[in-house]
Amino acid sequence: MDGFFGQRGKQRSVHNSYFTLPVLFAMLSNHCNMMYNHPMSWLVLVLMVTSVVLIRQFFLLKHKKKINWYFPLSGVVIMLGVFFWIAPKSPQAQAQDLAPPSTAEIQVVINSRCIGCHATHPTLMDAPAPKGVILETEEEIDKHANMIFIQAVQLKVMPLANLTHITDEERALIAKWYEGRKP
Ligand code: HEC
Repeated sequence: MDGFFGQRGKQRSVHNSYFTLPVLFAMLSNHCNMMYNHPMSWLVLVLMVTSVVLIRQFFLLKHKKKINWYFPLSGVVIMLGVFFWIAPKSPQAQAQDLAPPSTAEIQVVINSRCIGCHATHPTLMDAPAPKGVILETEEEIDKHANMIFIQAVQLKVMPLANLTHITDEERALIAKWYEGRKP
């Protein structure tokens, strides 16, 4: 009987160990918005978990003196595949099918998605405009063009938590506007 429970315990701990890395990954993933902001973020998670479980399997077998390189290799291939798949597309690729919009056209997007927070008197927050970034006029929008592009197109951290539901089309529009302003 003693032996039975001992073995059970060992087995459970091995099963748990499969999930050490996936849980760590899931906890840290909120720092990688490319992963959780992906339209198919559930699949990103499933693939990443599969990948680390395969790698873990290699080490478990290795403890039993069985070396099987297919486990870590397929794990790494899956992981690299995910990175390649979710890598941010170049702004050119995102925006190529649109004519460059004017700042006035971009202001329509900014008005509906950003100035709830980035205004002299924000309506979405009980605080002054974050980092002093006010986007109420065309001049202000032009002045912050670089940061708008980085925050809303490249990093996609703005609008904050996408509270104002900006669309991919609107982000692409901002990208095209930004590219079009360059001499
Ligand atoms: C719900 C409120 C909210 C909305 C909506 C919002 N922002 Fe922000 N924004 C913030 C906060 C908070 C910060 C400060 C973040 C920080 O401290 O890192 C910020 C910072 C910024 C900055 C400065 C970043 C820096 O590091 O200097 C820019 C530029 C910006 N936002 C652009 C935008 C654009 C463009 C939009 C619309 C597409 C937008 N934001 C929508 C809350 C918001």
